[in-house]
Amino acid sequence: MIVASTADEIRKQVREWRVSGLTVALVPTMGALHEGHLSLVRTASKVADKVVVSIFVNPTQFGPNEDFDRYPRTFDADLQQLSNLQCDAIYAPTASQMYKPGFQTSVELAQLPQHLCGLGRPVHFGGVALVVSKLFIACEPDFAVFGEKDFQQVRVIEQMVSDLDFAVKIVRSPTVREPDGLALSSRNRYLSQEQRAAAPVLYETLVSMAKSIEAGASDPKALIEHGIKLISAKGMEVEYLSIVDPIDLEDVELVTGPVRILVAARLGATRLIDNIAA
Ligand code: PAJ
Repeated sequence: MIVASTADEIRKQVREWRVSGLTVALVPTMGALHEGHLSLVRTASKVADKVVVSIFVNPTQFGPNEDFDRYPRTFDADLQQLSNLQCDAIYAPTASQMYKPGFQTSVELAQLPQHLCGLGRPVHFGGVALVVSKLFIACEPDFAVFGEKDFQQVRVIEQMVSDLDFAVKIVRSPTVREPDGLALSSRNRYLSQEQRAAAPVLYETLVSMAKSIEAGASDPKALIEHGIKLISAKGMEVEYLSIVDPIDLEDVELVTGPVRILVAARLGATRLIDNIAA
């Protein structure tokens, strides 16, 4: 397994593979790897011959009052986990390699970030779009794998790839969950025992809303009001619970076709998100 720390190094390796006719899939991560990330690596090795995992805690996607400083950094354990899978190269640049002094370019989307997580995290998706663009330019992958756990992020990346003509195919990989339904997240480790016991209410609520829709419920307002009650009853503060169009992420006024239900809520200082198709 090659560990590259500069864009030139990883690009050289990927070009060698591609010249010999091999396809390459990139799995972008911020490290602190768990089974959710590893499932993306498995998806990547099914779609391409070679797999590159990037590990970079990207400062530009964290707001000033967010958890950038305390975001878990577990590089050695990450390498160990990846060594058990088909991971052919790791791209792990430093922040000063990624953002050289005087850096001033941005990548912004006009509409998708104006919803859901983008409202409470105004710089987040610009930072994600910027770093993922840089990862695509450095790694030149044929495929890039993203988790549906971060549904708005996948939509932002898909739109950006289409808008900017990146020659990469985006592959969605399903959300990996604990046995009680809680979506795996690097932030789950912040939860106290009591908070951890409350957290599965997020997925339970999404499932119950999806079932109601399947049974014919079509008024988003009533579904959302009921859902917020269920989540609040467990001591969580709901940031948003929304039923949206799965392409443009606009709130739907009446459920008449496929929708996505998304939630963000706080348990103490920890912010959790989840989503489900309906
Ligand atoms: P990170 O939070 O490390 O997540 C990396 C990838 O793992 C994302 O595509 C995310 O959706 C996926 N993932 C996380 N938890 C998952 C789960 N339980 N099941 C399936 N997939 C899961 O997302 C980021 O990093 C960053 O924003 C990044 C795209 C790397 C840009 O900095």
